[in-house]
Amino acid sequence: LTEAVEADGAPTAPHIELHCAPPGFAPTRIRIGVGVAESPSAFASLCAPTSVALVDGGALDERPDLAPLELPLHVVDGGEACKTIEHLERVLRVLATHGVTRDGVLCVVGGGAVGDLGGLAAALWLRGIAHVQVPTTLLAMIDSSVGGKTAIDLPEGKNLVGAFWPAREVYVDPGFLRTLPRREIRSGIGEALKIAIGLDAELFAAFEARVGQTDAGDVDPGEAATANALDPRLDAGWATTLVERCIRNKIDVVERDPTETGPRRLLNLGHTIGHALEAVSSYRRAHGIAVARGLFPIVRLARDRGLLAPDDAERITRLVRSCGFAEKNRPPFEDLEPFVRRDKKALAGGATLRAVLPTGIGSSEVVEVGLDELRAAYESSG
Ligand SMILES: NC(=O)c1ccc[n+]([C@@H]2O[C@H](COP(=O)([O-])OP(=O)(O)OC[C@H]3O[C@@H](n4cnc5c(N)ncnc54)[C@H](O)[C@@H]3O)[C@@H](O)[C@H]2O)c1
Ligand SMILES: [Zn+2]
Repeated sequence: LTEAVEADGAPTAPHIELHCAPPGFAPTRIRIGVGVAESPSAFASLCAPTSVALVDGGALDERPDLAPLELPLHVVDGGEACKTIEHLERVLRVLATHGVTRDGVLCVVGGGAVGDLGGLAAALWLRGIAHVQVPTTLLAMIDSSVGGKTAIDLPEGKNLVGAFWPAREVYVDPGFLRTLPRREIRSGIGEALKIAIGLDAELFAAFEARVGQTDAGDVDPGEAATANALDPRLDAGWATTLVERCIRNKIDVVERDPTETGPRRLLNLGHTIGHALEAVSSYRRAHGIAVARGLFPIVRLARDRGLLAPDDAERITRLVRSCGFAEKNRPPFEDLEPFVRRDKKALAGGATLRAVLPTGIGSSEVVEVGLDELRAAYESSG
């Protein structure tokens, strides 16, 4: 942990500093620590005179002290509903109204949805200005604020319009999680599990230890105890481990493959079925929860193909279940099929897909999978 002093002389809280420098893009500096965004000046000092802040209304409830952030604030209601052309236009018009110049910065404070919207506005305004991300949900902290993907939705589908435009700075302050609803915490935990399973055996072991499970057998501590054991709000050390490990893994794949033509695809573990479960619920199911549920069929498929040892398959399934993502009221595969076929990773009109399969604890591979094979795995993993 390092202490730092900002340009204006103000010290910032102890934090971990990481850098993400994918080839072809400006690097991102990432600071992780409770309190790094505590003083608005911590990130306001980065901003040029013509900068503007885009703030998630949900986060503003938690941190009304953001209001004196010495920047014009544009507040939006967070959540998927803000990722529209209309909201994008509004943000661009705010930048126009304030005469934001090329050296201006858009400070984006919020969940992944506001982050995606703000990042895209920054990518488009004057063909690209810098943005600073201050993620306020667990999912945005561990995943979406790093890596440069920005997007909005169309009525025809999610994330159809976007750009790769990494933030200049990311301030990850777990203090923002205090007011986050339980469902959003679970959603972040679901994405973190995906990272643990596909990329990080050490994080996987940390999860097992927290839910009281070891190779020697499992103890069932009960649902509430498990939820508490996994809740980053109750243990600052765990919050930091979770965020830091996930971000380090993300940096690693993004630096090797910034535009997702190779290893970055591994971050899509669980997403083939996960996206379909989200879509079929009209996005009422939280993203990370759907992803966690999407892990069961994919583990089954990997095992049936002989890519994943039965013991590892059992260990993964047991952990995902113990973390509270056991399947309840699963829709039949027929309901998911149209969405699976339309997946960005679909090939040959949807009869074949590129899916990520776990090949061990903390390792995974992109594999072509037949739709029939996926259906069979889904039906037998219930
Ligand atoms: N760009 C990427 O790489 C990437 C990766 C994963 C997901 N995403 C996108 O992220 C979005 C999901 O993001 P999310 O899971 O962060 O949820 P979200 O942004 O939809 O936010 C969920 C809710 O939490 C509220 N909220 C935000 N911060 C809060 C706080 N501190 N306290 C209380 N409430 C708060 C929001 O107002 C909203 O109502 C999706 O649109 C998804 O496509 C992008
Ligand atoms: Zn995801």
